[in-house]
Amino acid sequence: MKIFIDTAKLEEIEEAYSCGVLDGVTTNPSLIKKAVDELKEKGEKINMDGYIKKILRTARGTPVSLEVTEREYEKMVEQAKKIYKMFDPVAHNVYIKIPVNPSFEAEGKEFDGIKAVKTLSKARIPVNCTLVFTPEQALLAAKAGAKFVSPFAGRIDDYIRAMNNIQFEKPDYFPSFGWREGDRILEDNGIISGIDLVKQIVEIFKKYNIKAQVLAASMRNARQVREAALVGADIATMPLYVIKELLAHYKTLEGMKKFTEDIVDEYSALTRNPKK
Ligand code: E4P
Repeated sequence: MKIFIDTAKLEEIEEAYSCGVLDGVTTNPSLIKKAVDELKEKGEKINMDGYIKKILRTARGTPVSLEVTEREYEKMVEQAKKIYKMFDPVAHNVYIKIPVNPSFEAEGKEFDGIKAVKTLSKARIPVNCTLVFTPEQALLAAKAGAKFVSPFAGRIDDYIRAMNNIQFEKPDYFPSFGWREGDRILEDNGIISGIDLVKQIVEIFKKYNIKAQVLAASMRNARQVREAALVGADIATMPLYVIKELLAHYKTLEGMKKFTEDIVDEYSALTRNPKK
């Protein structure tokens, strides 16, 4: 499974890529806002064009998803084409993020996202179809030609907990096999967890030989990443703290402390003062 970092903060992207095993970057308008607000707080001037170009170069040819901010079909397509033209030549790694359904209530523009995915995919602009919360949204996104389909696993877990008045912190683990309350398993329209959503999409894509890659988004902890891998997600995108958590275990830390305590001078001297 590929690992993407989910951030627009350049220093986080640089740090994550320094480990040498990162496969891509996802951003969204909220993540760009966070990055920009942080720069403003530090009193730094923002040159958005240069900033995005740095992200693209740091990602070293691996995919970087940049989301549109428009919500109507024609405007989304126009903006996506502009973003692609401006930024793809930098490192040939731009994916355009299109919301599966950008319509607000009663606007009647439910098809605008899918139509935009179709038009852009036909124009050979790679699309990451985002804000996916059901397998049927994923199916339509894939049929429209999206290269990546992004189910938001963490947000499904948040939603199930919020709908059932369960207190939680964002990084808390949510059981992929469902949250039991008495003899009932909590669910959202037949989805019992974010990982269950990812699993159902993976199964449907497999069944119909659909080529779109399943990008498990909104990952909140290392165990959820493990479960995304187990159910067959092609990619998981996560914040830097989760990438670091992938390396953490109490016994690794404990073992490291003990090994460090036990170093004998004769052994470390071998490399400190090598014999000529
Ligand atoms: C990635 O493509 C999504 O924008 C992101 O994973 C959302 O994560 P969040 O639910 O933590 O905001």
